[in-house]
Amino acid sequence: MHVMIINGSPRVKQFSNTDKILEEFTKGMCENGTTFEQYEISDRRQWDAIREAYYQNENILIALPLYVECIPGLLMEFLETLHHREDKVRLSFILQSGFAEGIQLRCGEAYLEKLAGRLGCEYGGTLVKGDNFSIRLLGEEQRKKVTGPYENMGREFGKQGNFLSDTCRSFTGPEVFPAYVRWMLSLIFQTFAKKGFNRFAKSWGCKEPLDYKPYE
Ligand SMILES: Cc1cc2nc3c(=O)[nH]c(=O)nc-3n(C[C@H](O)[C@H](O)[C@H](O)COP(=O)(O)O)c2cc1C
Repeated sequence: MHVMIINGSPRVKQFSNTDKILEEFTKGMCENGTTFEQYEISDRRQWDAIREAYYQNENILIALPLYVECIPGLLMEFLETLHHREDKVRLSFILQSGFAEGIQLRCGEAYLEKLAGRLGCEYGGTLVKGDNFSIRLLGEEQRKKVTGPYENMGREFGKQGNFLSDTCRSFTGPEVFPAYVRWMLSLIFQTFAKKGFNRFAKSWGCKEPLDYKPYE
């Protein structure tokens, strides 16, 4: 199998968490002889080449981060330039995010399933997982702890050619945190984190507190 991969993050490759995830994922995927080519949406100079490859390939994988509960605007702009395909092509997705609870990615997942149909593609499923905020900031060992599990998912994808197996579905982790974890997080966000964010804002020249409501 040959897979055409699009990194749908607007961040340049060097700083993209999605790219680090793909690094591990493709290691596993290629173990059985699967090959791939990868493109970056963040580099507009690649867009013509991406379109050309999109029309020539039968197995397409778009890996994307969740941006403001949604698909990144730059990727959307690119997708709007694609024509409906009439031939046999499978479109699968890796959807990843900063916050860890699976539930906040489900709306995006439902959208991606619809998108595959609208582009005339067979839907190959979406690998859904959060808790990826810090990947690009971590040292190699810590990073591997976060991205390492994607290698196994790459293996699964290499075998099945999609993300429809139970193993891939259960990769997400918890849909919601237990009540006591939510309570603790909310306390942290209302106290330490709030203070920290305000300090950052002040150091960047912001004159008002972050919860300033001038129109109230
Ligand atoms: C502008 C922006 C919006 C984001 N919105 C969300 C969000 O709504 N939910 C979430 O869990 N993570 C959100 N994140 C975090 C990213 O999904 C996460 O850091 C991801 O790993 C970034 O991947 P990338 O570096 O390849 O772009 C956001 C990040 C940015 C920069």
